[in-house]
Amino acid sequence: MQILKTALAVGLTAQVANAGLHAAAKSKNLLYFGTATDNPELSNSAYVTQLNNTADFGQITPGNSQKWDTTEPSQGQFSYEKGDVVADLAEANGQKLRCHNLVWHQQVPGWVSSGSWTNETLSAVLKNHITNVVKHYKGKCYAWDVVNEALNDDGSFRDSIWYKTIGEEYIPIAFEAAAAADPDTKLYYNDYSIEWSSDKATAAQNIVKNLQARNIKVDGVGLQAHFTVGQTPPRKDLASNLKSFTALGVEVAYTEVDVRMKTPATEANLQKQKTEFGDIVGSCVDVEGCVGVTIWDYTDKYSWVPSTFEGYGAACPWDEDLQKKPAYDGILSVLGGSASSSSSASATAAPTPVSTFATAVKQATTTQAVVSETPAQKSVEPEQPEQPEDEDEFCDA
Ligand SMILES: *[C@@H]1O[C@H](CO)[C@@H](O)[C@H](O)[C@H]1NC(C)=O
Ligand SMILES: *[C@@H]1O[C@H](CO)[C@@H](O)[C@H](O)[C@H]1NC(C)=O
Repeated sequence: MQILKTALAVGLTAQVANAGLHAAAKSKNLLYFGTATDNPELSNSAYVTQLNNTADFGQITPGNSQKWDTTEPSQGQFSYEKGDVVADLAEANGQKLRCHNLVWHQQVPGWVSSGSWTNETLSAVLKNHITNVVKHYKGKCYAWDVVNEALNDDGSFRDSIWYKTIGEEYIPIAFEAAAAADPDTKLYYNDYSIEWSSDKATAAQNIVKNLQARNIKVDGVGLQAHFTVGQTPPRKDLASNLKSFTALGVEVAYTEVDVRMKTPATEANLQKQKTEFGDIVGSCVDVEGCVGVTIWDYTDKYSWVPSTFEGYGAACPWDEDLQKKPAYDGILSVLGGSASSSSSASATAAPTPVSTFATAVKQATTTQAVVSETPAQKSVEPEQPEQPEDEDEFCDA
């Protein structure tokens, strides 16, 4: 028996060492490691080849094509073509889909933002939108970001058209409509600058508590994690903040991670970025109920950062030439994979046969002797930046 245990453990370790980010995340009992993507870049086959690499990405999020301006550009005219492209890709690859998003103050079409609404008429529009979109994607979404960025940095409600017209009641209305349209998808509140203990994080917890008090389904909180090198909180602080959410009985996930820096990037900042990506992902590993991590696109080539934060960029784990940066190894190593010797070598290495890895995990977890040696299972079934004024310019997230 001792020999069998050792052989399996060695086999497992060897597989993890070569595994990609998603395979390694699974070995740490996360559900997924994933990335956002967007329709225009799907015409770049080198980009898609890596997006398709399920050893690295077990989950994808459409960056824009499920937002209101795309899905209901004029009243009652629903358009799912673009969103379907991403949903179909996820399905063909066996990747989970995080669906994003249903209610937001940005990327709202003109007929909504310049309509003259009463509480009653806008509530009806909101319910109709959510019902249609969620029904269309029924059964395809691991989770929906139901309400996105409802809060100001001081924890008050953002003065969006939703809040102005309906009041804070728009939030329960949205969650109830989503739950009715697809009872099986996880319903999330998603925001930024809630990744550390703050008035805004407390306000996000209050949104969850208020829904729970009314018996309205809410399953998770998405913490976007758009950070800047040098300003990412330490791993232990990130983890204790995550726990303040999971203590409410909801799951959590990092949903839009990037770590930007002044450009041009310096080697010193790339090394800091490596550590900070590791801290973010590591804090998810540390917390039972943190189900996964999504980066806000994997390559600097298609990052939203340079066009949003002047003078900043280089925020993703892959560079503009789709080569892995030190951040890749930083993430892999906190997930128990071994850092590769050089980024260009790892970028060209053959993809890990993920099925072999999955088999090894399955064998390990079905062998009693080995189970006793694996870390405690997380209960995964029950998932900012320091320049807040910039964040109002969010156009991609
Ligand atoms: C990516 O995956 C999709 C679905 O599995 C497949 O149809 C497509 O050919 C792949 N593209 C590349 C460039 O690998
Ligand atoms: C809008 O109507 C709902 C009831 O449907 C109510 O709970 C809410 O307070 C109203 N909002 C405003 C701003 O009057």
